Order: sequence, then structure tokens, then C-alpha cells
Amino acid sequence: MDRVIVIGGPGPAVSIANAIRHASQQFGTEVEFTGILNDSSEGGTINNIPVVGKLSDASAFQAQGYKFIFTIYKIGGQPHRIQLFNSLGIRESSLYTFVHPLAYVAPDADLAPGVVIMPNANISHGTKIGLGTLIMSNAYIGHDTIVGKHCFMSATSCTGSYITVGEGVWVGFNATIRGRQKLGQYAAVGIGSVVVSDIPDEELWIGNPARFHKKVTAPIRY
Ligand SMILES: CC(C)(COP(=O)(O)OP(=O)(O)OC[C@H]1O[C@@H](n2cnc3c(N)ncnc32)[C@H](O)[C@@H]1OP(=O)(O)O)[C@@H](O)C(=O)NCCC(=O)NCCS
Repeated sequence: MDRVIVIGGPGPAVSIANAIRHASQQFGTEVEFTGILNDSSEGGTINNIPVVGKLSDASAFQAQGYKFIFTIYKIGGQPHRIQLFNSLGIRESSLYTFVHPLAYVAPDADLAPGVVIMPNANISHGTKIGLGTLIMSNAYIGHDTIVGKHCFMSATSCTGSYITVGEGVWVGFNATIRGRQKLGQYAAVGIGSVVVSDIPDEELWIGNPARFHKKVTAPIRY
């Protein structure tokens, strides 16, 4: 049985940890959730989830056969966080791909290592989801859409068909992306926004129809 550690803090890490426990307890998914790696709370808990070490402990856990999910994504500064992930030296074979039993994933969808599909998400046919990407609860990915590595697709976001989502893209709650658009790498979409045209690299767009708001080369509060 896989023993899984989630890397991150309050928010997605805790939600994903609870969803893994739920899958195991309610649906018999063969996975054992171990705890969280977090640099500020070692030895304590975050929302009742045990913190079993710091990020620098990942290699020791990897040597013992543990598998990992990386959840540290935010708007802005994504290249820095992807660099952080790469610095941990986690092999692709040590990434855990988690699909909650209440999610729908089309039979031909291609999920890379470390992908998370949360409850009630829908991953349509012909899709490809890149390494480490998190698809949160009730998010929809339309058919023949390609989502890059290390993206964060918030709960209830709706990404249409034939879309190309670049590496490290962040899409907010309830945002909708029209089919056949292209989201450049490290781009971001604000809460509830409706995207009807391509978004260039590292730009945050908001509103309906979504328009350029600002560059997001550095982390921002959201
Ligand atoms: C866009 C966002 C990141 C804020 O960016 P910001 O640069 O700090 O923007 P501000 O809050 O200063 O707002 C600037 C203006 O944009 C407007 N605005 C902010 N977010 C907006 C959105 N999503 N859609 C439309 N308008 C928005 C504000 O009302 C404000 O308008 P005003 O100048 O007329 O008063 C934030 O509002 C957002 O959408 N966060 C996403 C949250 C989310 O989805 N979380 C889910 C996972 S945890």
C-alpha cells in the first residue's frame, strides 16, 4: 500500500490530506496518508493533520519508500515554487497520483505523476494533465484540453475544450475559460472571471470578459 506525504501548508495540503483519508476510510482506496511536510510547523499539526517533518526531510522519506504530493502553488512567483519542488529531488516514481473515487476521469485521460483530482471534478476525454497539477473539487476540464505541469485549477473552475494551459498556471474559484484559448506559462485568472481570449505569460486577468490586471512575476495576496 502506498504511504503518502503531502507537502504544503493550510489550504490545499489539508484539503488533499483529508480527501485521501476520506477515500481510504469510505471507499477502501489502498493508500495510507502519513502527514504533511511543512517548514513552520514541524512536530505539530495543521488543522489536526500531523506535520511529520520539514521539506528538507523529503529525501529521507523518499529513501524509505514514501510517495509525495506537492501543493505549494499561489498566484505569482510560480517559477520560484517550481524551483523549490525541483530542489527537493523527488523522483517522478515517488510522486503519488491521487484520484478521489467521487471524481470522474475519462478512460483516455492522461494524468502525469503527482496529479491530484479532487471530489466531483470532471476530467473529459482526450485531456492531458501535467506533472504535479492540482484539480480541486468540482473543477471541470473540457475534452482535448492540455494542462501543463504544476498548475492549480481552483474549486468550481471551468476550463473548456481544446485549451492549452501553460506550466504553472493558476485559475481562481469559479473562473471560466472559453474553449480553444491559450493560457501562457505562470498566467493567472481571478475569481469568477470569464476568459474569452488568450492570456500571455505571467499575466493576471480578471473580470467578465477578463482583461489584463497586472503582471504576476512576484507572489501577491489573494
Ligand atoms: C484578482 C485578485 C488576485 C486580487 O488582485 P489585487 O491586485 O490584489 O486586486 P484588488 O483586490 O486590489 O482589486 C483591484 C480591483 O479589481 C477588482 N477585482 C479584484 N478581483 C476581481 C475579480 N476576480 N474579478 C473582477 N474584479 C476584481 C476589485 O474590485 C478592485 O476594483 P476597483 O479598483 O474598482 O475597486 C483576487 O481578487 C482574486 O480573484 N483572487 C482569487 C481567489 C481565489 O480564487 N482563490 C481560490 C483558491 S484559494
